[in-house]
Amino acid sequence: MPAVSNMRVVLCCCFFFFFFSVASVAAVNPSLNDDVLGLIVFKADIQDPKGKLSSWNEDDDNACGGGWVGVRCNPRSNRVVELNLDGFSLSGKIGRGLLRLQFLRKLSLANNNLTGGISANIAHFENLRVIDLSGNNLSGELPDDLFRQCGSLRAVSFARNSFSGKLPSSLGSCSAVVSIDMSSNQFSGSVPAGVWSLSALRYIDLSGNLLEGEIPKGVDALKNLRSISLSNNQISGKIPDGFGSCSLLRSVDFGENLLSGNLPEDLKELKLCSYLGLRGNALSGEVPEWIGEMRSLETLDLSRNRFSRQVPSSIGALQSLKMLNLSGNGFTDNLPESMSNCTNLSALDVSHNSMSGALPSWIFKPDLEKVLVSENKARGGLKTPLFSLDEVAVQSLQVLDFSDNTFSGEITSAIGGLSSLQFLNLSQNSLRGPIPAAISELKMLSIIDLSGNHLNGSIPWEIAGAMSLKELRLEKNFLVGKIPTSIENCSSLSTL
Ligand SMILES: *[C@@H]1O[C@H](CO)[C@@H](O)[C@H](O)[C@H]1NC(C)=O
Ligand SMILES: *[C@@H]1O[C@H](CO)[C@@H](O)[C@H](O)[C@H]1NC(C)=O
Ligand SMILES: *[C@@H]1O[C@H](CO)[C@@H](O)[C@H](O)[C@H]1NC(C)=O
Ligand SMILES: *[C@@H]1O[C@H](CO)[C@@H](O)[C@H](O)[C@H]1NC(C)=O
Ligand SMILES: *[C@@H]1O[C@H](CO)[C@@H](O)[C@H](O)[C@H]1NC(C)=O
Ligand SMILES: *[C@@H]1O[C@H](CO)[C@@H](O)[C@H](O)[C@H]1NC(C)=O
Ligand SMILES: *[C@@H]1O[C@H](CO)[C@@H](O)[C@H](O)[C@H]1NC(C)=O
Ligand SMILES: *[C@@H]1O[C@H](CO)[C@@H](O)[C@H](O)[C@H]1NC(C)=O
Repeated sequence: MPAVSNMRVVLCCCFFFFFFSVASVAAVNPSLNDDVLGLIVFKADIQDPKGKLSSWNEDDDNACGGGWVGVRCNPRSNRVVELNLDGFSLSGKIGRGLLRLQFLRKLSLANNNLTGGISANIAHFENLRVIDLSGNNLSGELPDDLFRQCGSLRAVSFARNSFSGKLPSSLGSCSAVVSIDMSSNQFSGSVPAGVWSLSALRYIDLSGNLLEGEIPKGVDALKNLRSISLSNNQISGKIPDGFGSCSLLRSVDFGENLLSGNLPEDLKELKLCSYLGLRGNALSGEVPEWIGEMRSLETLDLSRNRFSRQVPSSIGALQSLKMLNLSGNGFTDNLPESMSNCTNLSALDVSHNSMSGALPSWIFKPDLEKVLVSENKARGGLKTPLFSLDEVAVQSLQVLDFSDNTFSGEITSAIGGLSSLQFLNLSQNSLRGPIPAAISELKMLSIIDLSGNHLNGSIPWEIAGAMSLKELRLEKNFLVGKIPTSIENCSSLSTL
């Protein structure tokens, strides 16, 4: 008991001393030093293990002398207008001190270790334009009226914290806001419909939360929208009409949600859109012919949905396309020949579908780096020219996965032409004949899996020429003889 009361006395003294000293500073120059007072109180509430704020001296009668790290002032009024403490390793709680900084326009406390909640008052700065609290460990619910007086606010980021509860509906009153980033928290409830009325909005990221319900209607008012991400939530229902009216949209990411239904046709109006990410939903139907009108698409990710039948030939009109991911759907027909016009395509993933027929020859065109075609086990199966063509010289190809199909025939020595190849998986097919010695020409190859075929003969001693080899899998074939001793040369080989 006595120890506890002693402690209390000590704490009281500290508190008293602190208050007294702050009060005496304020008394010297009462009008100017609201800023000094506010910053010193803020500093007293947090921990600063690296002493980054040691330049904040409570004896200074003004924070604008130039010595206060992270503080910027308006030279005319001598008032603090910016506080930028990004990455200062600060921890502890944000107290009420900052409320005194009435002229603050920009507040960044990003990338620290701050904890606790934030009070209803923090955004009630009349002049606040930018507030960035991202990358801390702040938690708790946000008061619904947090943004009640946010008329000047342009950018708000609470990203990468542990906030929970609903997104405040008062966000809808920040009529000047250009950028909202609430990603990577635990926000729940639905996307507040009021946000769709913020006509200045260009960028919104609500990804990585627990949001549910449908995407509200009325997004067509956002004529300035450039980028929207709602990915990694539990948002359901159809994608509503209206996004097509946001004609400046460049990036749309709705991946990893529970969206269903068809793609709304007005998306075709998005002529500037370069990124359309819809992976991991329950979208269905055929991929519409109008997809070819989204001329700026560079990434089209429709993976892990329920799209079916054929890939429309209009996709060949997407000349900027770099990455097409159709993995994990129910496509049955083969890829269209028109795609030979997608000259910038570097990654193609059509694995885990039910495609059949011969793979088009453009698949081995000069710029492709990744081709993933694994597990297409429709009756008839996929066929490919790779194992019969005399010349395969796709120097750009790094990843080739043809595993788990019904490919047959021999691996020809043409494979030696794939000089950049790093990953080769031909496992679980019906390939016959020997492993060609030409494999030794693949100097970059680090993983090769030929298991589960009908390959026969002995393992060629030249295989050691593939010096980067880390993993070599040959089981479940009809190979005979010993593993060649030359393989010692593959110094980084770890799995055999
Ligand atoms: C946060 O604190 C942890 C340990 O408490 C430390 O390892 C980490 O570097 C800190 N992060 C920052 C951004 O200061
Ligand atoms: C964030 O704070 C919670 C407690 O509020 C703690 O359990 C968690 O480890 C912290 N996370 C980090 C990254 O510091
Ligand atoms: C395609 O999407 C699947 C599933 O979303 C993912 O696992 C795969 O890595 C993607 N392919 C490429 C080439 O990025
Ligand atoms: C293809 O890529 C190159 C280089 O990244 C770029 O300069 C060119 O504009 C692209 N072509 C199209 C049609 O987008
Ligand atoms: C590729 O584009 C050219 C010119 O735009 C067109 O004439 C040709 O038919 C297209 N090829 C295919 C296979 O669609
Ligand atoms: C090759 O593909 C098969 C079937 O798709 C898979 O099980 C195996 O893990 C892959 N091998 C490597 C080395 O990734
Ligand atoms: C490999 O199998 C083929 C038949 O598929 C046979 O003609 C050939 O002689 C076999 N080669 C060896 C070395 O066993
Ligand atoms: C293995 O390395 C040794 C010395 O570096 C070289 O003489 C030999 O030819 C190499 N063997 C193969 C199969 O590449």
